Amino acid sequence: MVLPVTAKTNQLNHLEIGGCDTVDLVNEFGTPLFVLDKETIVSRCRRYMTSSSAGPVGMEIIYAAKAFMSLAFCQIIEREGLSIDVSSGGELFMALRAGFPADRIYMHGNNKTPEELIMALENKVGTIVVDSFDELAALDELTNSRGIRQKIFLRLTPGIKPKTHHYIQTGQIDSKFGFGIEDGVAKAAVDFAVDPSNNLDLVGFHVHIGSQIFAVESYKKSIEILINFVVDTIKDSNFYPEKLNLGGGLGIKYLNDDAPTSIEDFATTIFEAAVFESEKAGIDLPELAIEPGRSIVGNAAVTLYRIGTIKEVPGVRTYVSVDGGMSDNIRPMLYGATYGALVANKAGDEPVKTVTVAGKHCESGDVIIKDVELPEVEVGDILCTPATGAYGFAMANNFNMQRKPAVVMVEGGKAKTIIERQTYEDLIINQSSLDDFE
Ligand SMILES: Cc1ncc(COP(=O)(O)O)c(C=O)c1O
Repeated sequence: MVLPVTAKTNQLNHLEIGGCDTVDLVNEFGTPLFVLDKETIVSRCRRYMTSSSAGPVGMEIIYAAKAFMSLAFCQIIEREGLSIDVSSGGELFMALRAGFPADRIYMHGNNKTPEELIMALENKVGTIVVDSFDELAALDELTNSRGIRQKIFLRLTPGIKPKTHHYIQTGQIDSKFGFGIEDGVAKAAVDFAVDPSNNLDLVGFHVHIGSQIFAVESYKKSIEILINFVVDTIKDSNFYPEKLNLGGGLGIKYLNDDAPTSIEDFATTIFEAAVFESEKAGIDLPELAIEPGRSIVGNAAVTLYRIGTIKEVPGVRTYVSVDGGMSDNIRPMLYGATYGALVANKAGDEPVKTVTVAGKHCESGDVIIKDVELPEVEVGDILCTPATGAYGFAMANNFNMQRKPAVVMVEGGKAKTIIERQTYEDLIINQSSLDDFE
């Protein structure tokens, strides 16, 4: 599945999602437009929840909010029974404002500011995932001075290199994240955390080996490393974790040829590897947790753009330019990410030509898709890029003072704006003019 589960071509030859004709959607809400299909989100949450309850121990499903976040979206995640991972004060603020119970919030980040740590403590965030010795010391001081205790996980670096673009690998030894297992740093962190003189309750360990992972064997390897580490902490520090969090990273289908592992097979792989490794090590298997982001929201959304210009460079290529680009989808520029496309108002037409889809920004690298086969396109057509739900809007920016797009959620033929398009006034709302100085 590249498109949302409810997507189909209707009698008008238009792409329809959630019972809404996408041509009507752009006429009502404008372009660029993110269209988020509620049914896809809910069904993926449920598949995770069902698969996670089928194992020998519990597996908590923690949605990684960095993939996409809004108040309404958090409320869906909450209702479906997932927990949430936030990695900044802003994400924490939004989760709390959406009514997310604090005890189901995990606070991440390799450099949480003192303000963010205080915010987490004051709001009684369930678990803080500690990333460094400096953070351990800061948390120790903050909890001591408040006379409170705080549950923590330690983020560990297992030293694994899954097959994915290297900028989104975070588990290798040379990483800004976490305590290295191989170099003994993680053991020292455990000793600090379990010292009875501090106010920290060490609950478990966290690893995150990367993103858009197709090779699920990488998870087996990380489980093996983690369980071996647990054997050492039992022996050396008399510490047995309640829970092991294996992070996020399950890949999704961006192009038709992509073949990611299903949610169900992913959960089975994790359970089987965890049972195998814990039996081999002769220890009880702790509870498990995973932190999917992309695999919940990635395929739930598409972006709709209006084609504004078409430029033929004879014998070279055809540039089809749309009214968005790196300001609403920076992933092609950042990671060389690849996307497919279709023409939403000619959804059933056969492709006839290979074109390059360019954005409208003043950067020649602002290209959304290098080569894609499309039907005959004309100025005014609506171009749709599927699978933009994760790290699309979440990374949207105001380059060239482009307004961030609207996000509409569709279900049963109804569309509701869950994030309004920014206005031009929004762009200057936090600014002062020179008049204020003179
Ligand atoms: C700590 C952590 N957990 C979970 C995720 C979610 O990863 P994904 O969206 O690939 O599932 C990320 C992504 O970078 C992460 O850094």
